[in-house]
Amino acid sequence: MSTRRAFFINTLTSASALAAAKAANIESRIGKKDWRGITREDLPTPCMILDADLFEKNLNHMAASCKQFGLNFRGHVKIHKSVDIAKRQVGLGAIGVTVATEAEAELMSGSGVKGVLLTRQPAGKEKTMRVVALAKRDPSFITIVDDPWMVDQLDEAAAATRTRVNVVVDIFAGLQRAGIEPGPKALALARRVSGKKNLNFKGLMAYSGIASHTKGWEARKDRSMKDIGGMLQTAELCKKAGLPVEIKSGGSTGTYNIDGGHLTELQAGSYMFMDTGYIKIGSKAGNAIYDDFAQSLTILTTIIVRKHGGLATIDAGLKAMLKPTDTVKGRPDVVIENQGAEYGILKWKDGDRDYKLGDKVELYTTHLDMTTNVYDRYYLAKGDQIIDAYPVMGRSGAAQR
Ligand SMILES: Cc1ncc(COP(=O)(O)O)c(C=O)c1O
Repeated sequence: MSTRRAFFINTLTSASALAAAKAANIESRIGKKDWRGITREDLPTPCMILDADLFEKNLNHMAASCKQFGLNFRGHVKIHKSVDIAKRQVGLGAIGVTVATEAEAELMSGSGVKGVLLTRQPAGKEKTMRVVALAKRDPSFITIVDDPWMVDQLDEAAAATRTRVNVVVDIFAGLQRAGIEPGPKALALARRVSGKKNLNFKGLMAYSGIASHTKGWEARKDRSMKDIGGMLQTAELCKKAGLPVEIKSGGSTGTYNIDGGHLTELQAGSYMFMDTGYIKIGSKAGNAIYDDFAQSLTILTTIIVRKHGGLATIDAGLKAMLKPTDTVKGRPDVVIENQGAEYGILKWKDGDRDYKLGDKVELYTTHLDMTTNVYDRYYLAKGDQIIDAYPVMGRSGAAQR
């Protein structure tokens, strides 16, 4: 063998040996946060990649905007389920977090995040007891209610353990999933809370999930004002009745620059990552695109089959929450089709072009809450280099949810 050929083979062998060692080691390297030499190419796909610079920009822009608009920030955890991210938000001035489930509330509070607001009422004995137990451990915890029965149940459970539970009344704001009718009925509920020995009336919530994705800033503003109007009117009634309304909570990524002066605090979540739905809603500057926040989150996938003309198969399918409305980063010429549990199809709009076996392809997701829920962690990347990983927490097992 020539010296040159031997050198080439040795180099190749040591390169693949290094790659194999890295692959075998990835979990232990992640555990040790030892990112030396770890690039996107080394990661098991499909996986979530967070562009560290864009993510940082999004966090900072929201924190600065809330200050500018006179809003407290209590961002929604269900989008990210990450203690690391919640703590970053708190570091930038957030007064706490909003959560959708008892498990998220326990997780955040147990990790030292104060000011957790549960935005789904804890109906049913198991949920009520968990919430009261949490309130005992963490006096900064708050739950919502939208029904007199819930108020009575909560007070009874709180009395049994001599706990005082902070309560916000949830007012209907366009989504039929929850919320008491604003006006006299809501006032009566606020009075009921306030009259209970073991409950502490903190204020009102009105989450307008319809306004959040309304296209066009003016239309969005109109919708948000219409949807939270009942809550604002109820707040006035409460004030007149001598019930101080400390909290008026609501809002979203779509309304962060609309709700200031009306709400006291904002619950936005998606802004930190952004998804394919949100970028279409238009900004204050124009209806074409919503670019106030950058698309920082992608799903890294690998081309695993190249057999049939006009399409390439990736290793992300239904189990990875792939959707035909997802998009390929930097590739408007490619569309996505769901194919199966562990397969996804990429098709060129016009014929058959590049993509080779083993190539990496990054996707923007459609529904953040659902997507982040099926992955173990966010890999933070600067260019190709991985610099950190944040675990996604509390998403498996009945007790966790
Ligand atoms: C009650 C509540 N508040 C806030 C949000 C956050 O909204 P977004 O992710 O659109 O900012 C959600 C999201 O669905 C929600 O359900």
